[in-house]
Amino acid sequence: MKKSRKLLIAGNWKMNKLRADTEAFFDEFVPKLSALPHKDTIDVLFSCPLPLIATAQTKSKNTVTIASQNYHWEPKGAFTGEVSIPMLVDFGVNTSVVGHSERRQYFNESNETMRKKLLAAQNAKFKVIACVGETLEQRKSNQTTQVIDEQLKAIISGIKESSSQSLEHVVIAYEPVWAIGTGLSATTEQAVEVHKHIRSVWATAFGPGEAQKLRVLYGGSVTPDNATALLSQEDIDGALIGGASLKPDDFFKICQIAAS
Ligand code: PGA
Repeated sequence: MKKSRKLLIAGNWKMNKLRADTEAFFDEFVPKLSALPHKDTIDVLFSCPLPLIATAQTKSKNTVTIASQNYHWEPKGAFTGEVSIPMLVDFGVNTSVVGHSERRQYFNESNETMRKKLLAAQNAKFKVIACVGETLEQRKSNQTTQVIDEQLKAIISGIKESSSQSLEHVVIAYEPVWAIGTGLSATTEQAVEVHKHIRSVWATAFGPGEAQKLRVLYGGSVTPDNATALLSQEDIDGALIGGASLKPDDFFKICQIAAS
């Protein structure tokens, strides 16, 4: 697919798989990806649970980026159960998903923690896929734009407060909460409308040049069946994929569509 920005196809494994499953996944996936024509025209990433990262790194043989799903904003300290950016970097991980709606929903993450996490990532030159998205209630009551704006405001504040703004380290993922894991993807029109809005907010914050460079992924029930329609949209620069990233064949099919 000829696009202005390089497509990023990102799997989000959430709290799934054991080490043996991870080995089996990459044993099947890596040869397929390696043989994919034009594979260099796309970026491929997996956001893995921490205990699987070492196995994923070894078995993926540098063909994809292995990322984490979360991190704490402090570099170290008394935060039982958390993991810091320096720990991840020490482990060869330079990217994380951040602010996923499941973190917001079940672990009380807020726009304020998002601001702190973006600030920490930028200061450490750590790459993020920062998630935004509205709930069904918010969409039904016409609050989508307002909710996205508040989430973006926190992300932008964190970036602006950092000593070393590095916008090339930030990808935004638009994931309508009602589309995650439900089998009910947003329509291309719904997704494009929000993606365009995100780019316009970025243009206001950082200028039109940076907005043109920003990659905005769509996430929420992406499958091989709807990937062509979504990824062929000029404003959709890739996908964040949960369910369909657990099966090597489904995920590979989406990579194939992106690289076609
Ligand atoms: P899904 O999850 O593809 O299973 O809807 C997407 C996500 O949560 O990132």
